[in-house]
Amino acid sequence: MSETKKYRVGLGVSGGIAAYKAIEVLRLLQKNDCEVRVAMTKHATEFVQPLTFRALTESYVFVDDYEPENPDPIAHINFSQTIDLLLIVPATANIIAKFANGIADDFLSSTYLASNAPVLIAPAMNTTMWEHTASQRNIDKLKSDGVFFVAPVAGELACRTVGTGKLEDVENIVAQALQLLVQSSKSKVQSQIDLTQDSRFKTQDLKGESFLITIGGTREAIDPIRFISNHSSGKMGFAIADAAQKRGADVTVVCGTTSVKPPNSVKVVRAVSAEEMFQAVMKELPNATVFVGAAAVADYRPKNVSDAKIKKTNQDFLTLELEKTSDILATVSKNRHNGLLVVGFAAETNDVISYAKSKLEKKNLDMVVANDITLNGAGFDSDTNIATILKRRSDEKIEIPLMSKQAMADKILDEVIKLRKKIYP
Ligand code: PMT
Repeated sequence: MSETKKYRVGLGVSGGIAAYKAIEVLRLLQKNDCEVRVAMTKHATEFVQPLTFRALTESYVFVDDYEPENPDPIAHINFSQTIDLLLIVPATANIIAKFANGIADDFLSSTYLASNAPVLIAPAMNTTMWEHTASQRNIDKLKSDGVFFVAPVAGELACRTVGTGKLEDVENIVAQALQLLVQSSKSKVQSQIDLTQDSRFKTQDLKGESFLITIGGTREAIDPIRFISNHSSGKMGFAIADAAQKRGADVTVVCGTTSVKPPNSVKVVRAVSAEEMFQAVMKELPNATVFVGAAAVADYRPKNVSDAKIKKTNQDFLTLELEKTSDILATVSKNRHNGLLVVGFAAETNDVISYAKSKLEKKNLDMVVANDITLNGAGFDSDTNIATILKRRSDEKIEIPLMSKQAMADKILDEVIKLRKKIYP
């Protein structure tokens, strides 16, 4: 690859109807200072001709290592080790399954195994295939291997059905790819240090700590059928639970509604409403040494819950009277026992730092993790996050750039350790 462009991207195209969108992705990457080389699966060539990519990149398009005109006899090694990012658009259920299981029976799957570059996968497939337990299991496996995903969106699919499985917008895919490239080029220098800081390689530096973590969203009933809730998936909270447990802590999670499964070997207490979460937290609190409020708890709930389904009437408006819920985090902090560290989150859409700072002070927290949920790749339900950590009585602002929620969990825990050392040097 030439040295003239800032970033080098390996674009992997697998065999789905959205393969034509890989052309737009390629063009947009090129406009953003990326040199792109393309690898296709055999089935992808049924949808788009390799010649199209060849013309646009002025480079050989790899499909098969053994093609007679392949200019490089060990192309999957050379290709994979000269890229800054491996981006798969679109990714079929089949290529995801191969990556997850280390199968290397064609050029693209061999490239995945032979590459050290970050990997970003943009799946596109039929809804049933996307939702199938096997696909979700493979995706979870890849996420825990550190692979990034740009989740597919809901919409009308090529098979004339409507559901989740449509390739995310090209602009959003490229934005996430560029953020990863910026991030990984910044962290290359730090990579050696980061490796030793990854929870998989860490010593048991949280041994002796007992974490109590609230996770997910709450549901506040309106009547037996309807409720008020939010978009929390539980991914951020579970990532912290998993990392803390791997670093030696005892972990109990109190979780509301979540769309992902809790990690093994953490104690799970289920709660539906803010009140149930409050009660469960108060019961578990005496055993905790660190409390983390990662849940999105409703601030208000309907004052009167109807016993029967509320019927539609001739009136155009229906007014629900709401009352405040108990603030779990503030109550924990107010009644904290000796040595308890209290960490809160703040999900904001504007004036992020000043709102987070005011939560830190009003709720008397040791630390707050502020998410600007308007940023691409941050906040609810995404696999990645971007945050700023603020600490009590400190002007320090710790910026955590775009990274997987697993990696961010470790960064948050590193700050918890620093707080612990400060309190008990
Ligand atoms: O679950 P994910 O999809 O991975 O998304 C992660 C997340 C965005 C939900 C998470 O990172 C996050 O920011 N959680 C807090 C969301 C929120 O409700 O923030 P808040 O600003 O409304 O609340 C501030 C803090 O007070 C939070 O720690 C919250 O848990 C806590 N709180 C709020 C209200 C209440 N009644 N009780 C509380 O404990």
